[in-house]
Parts: sequence; C-alpha cells; structure tokens
Amino acid sequence: MPKTIIAGNWKMNKSAQEALTFFEALKTELGEVTEREVVVIPPTLFIWEACQHFQDTAIKVGAQNAAYEMSGAFTGETSPSPLAEIGVAYVIVGHSERRQIFKESDEDINKKVKLAIKEGLTPILCVGETLEQREAGEAKSFIAEQLKACLAGMSSEEISKTVIAYEPIWAIGTGKTASSADAEEICAEIRDVLFELADEAVAKEISILYGGSVKANNAGEILNQENINGVLVGGASLEINSFKGIALA
Ligand code: PGA
Repeated sequence: MPKTIIAGNWKMNKSAQEALTFFEALKTELGEVTEREVVVIPPTLFIWEACQHFQDTAIKVGAQNAAYEMSGAFTGETSPSPLAEIGVAYVIVGHSERRQIFKESDEDINKKVKLAIKEGLTPILCVGETLEQREAGEAKSFIAEQLKACLAGMSSEEISKTVIAYEPIWAIGTGKTASSADAEEICAEIRDVLFELADEAVAKEISILYGGSVKANNAGEILNQENINGVLVGGASLEINSFKGIALA
C-alpha cells in the first residue's frame, strides 16, 4: 500500500514569529501521528528552523522548490543538496504557480525531479490541467503527457522515489474542489501511466496526492478514493485546527 501523505504547502505566507508559533502547535497536535506522513512545507527562510524543530518527531519537512543545478551562478535559487543535508525530506516540483508565474517548463521540471532524487529528496511532482482543458475533455490526455514529459528518461528505480500530486489548476485557491469521482478518475489515469513507465511493483506503491481547495470537511471523502493516497493542502494548511482536521480526516 502506498504511504498516506498529508502535506501542507504554506506558499509565501506567515511571518517568522507566526512560523515559530505554528511549528510549536504542529508539534503538540500532530507530532506523534505515525499512521500518516504529515509534512510541513514552509517558505525557504523557515526550513532550517523547521528541520531542527521536528527532528525528534514524526513530522517531515519539505521545500517548495529546489534548483536543477547543484551549485553556481543561480542568484536566488536553492540547491537541493544542502536541503537534504539539513534534513529536508520532500520538495515540491512543478507546482502550477511555478509553471505559470515563473515559466518553468516540463524540461526544467524533469531536471529538478532527477536532481532532487539524486540528492536524496523525495520530489512531489505536481501535474494539473486548466479549466479550458477540462471543459474541452482533454484533462486525462493532457495529464498523461505532462507526467510522461516530467518523468522522461527516468528508470523504474528513480520513479519509485517520487510522489505525484494531481492539482487541477482551476481548483487551486478557488474554493472549487474536483469532485472525489473526478479526482479519482485522473489519479487512476496517473497510476496507469506509472504502470507504463515503471515496474508493476513500483507503480503500485507510489503515493498519488490530490490538491486543490482541500479542507477538513472534504478531505475524508477524497482520502477514501482508491488511487488517492494523500493530499497537498495550501490555504487550509495555514491554520492549525483546519490542518489537524485534514490530517486526521
Ligand atoms: P489550495 O492550494 O489548497 O489553497 O487550493 C493547493 C496547492 O496549491 O497545493
């Protein structure tokens, strides 16, 4: 069975003081949850502190992005290598905000996924269609192609070290969630593509997350779907009670 992952992506939110207060609350409320993997993904500035804070707990720390090169003249970028060195476990790669606002291509994302794995981080690779693509009936085929492009040239062994997140762009931060049936349909398609790209035993074990307006009141139904093994939460991960509600849903 794939691991169930509850990941909270803060995006560019919280002051330093708010981050520390939240880390404290998270440790108290969810520090001993082991049936599910709880992951906190704060802005880069707070990552080191988070790693120190959660080192003796079950909570894992993630980064929202990492570079596709190890080091060099890349002003403003963060190398995956020191992230792994300080204890970061996961890195989000290919979030639609990175794709749309910062113009990351499938090729960039493919390089980031490969390097993250090489450095010992687990990439949470995001894929998702626009509303126009969904309305044109192209969601499934688009997701399959996007996934293949982002995992291009990777061995089954490398693919086994990834987590995939299905995040329909129209559902992110809009309050519109995909119905659990629609989300399951695409996640099942993602699983099929994984069967094409990797060994059967590997494809079965990869965690596929859903993200897009997940809240405490819809998380339970989403998590009950056969091919959904967790959630990637934005807005509702910023407040401890709503994040706890999702983690325990
Ligand atoms: P949201 O964001 O939960 O605020 O819709 C999800 C995401 O972008 O990962």
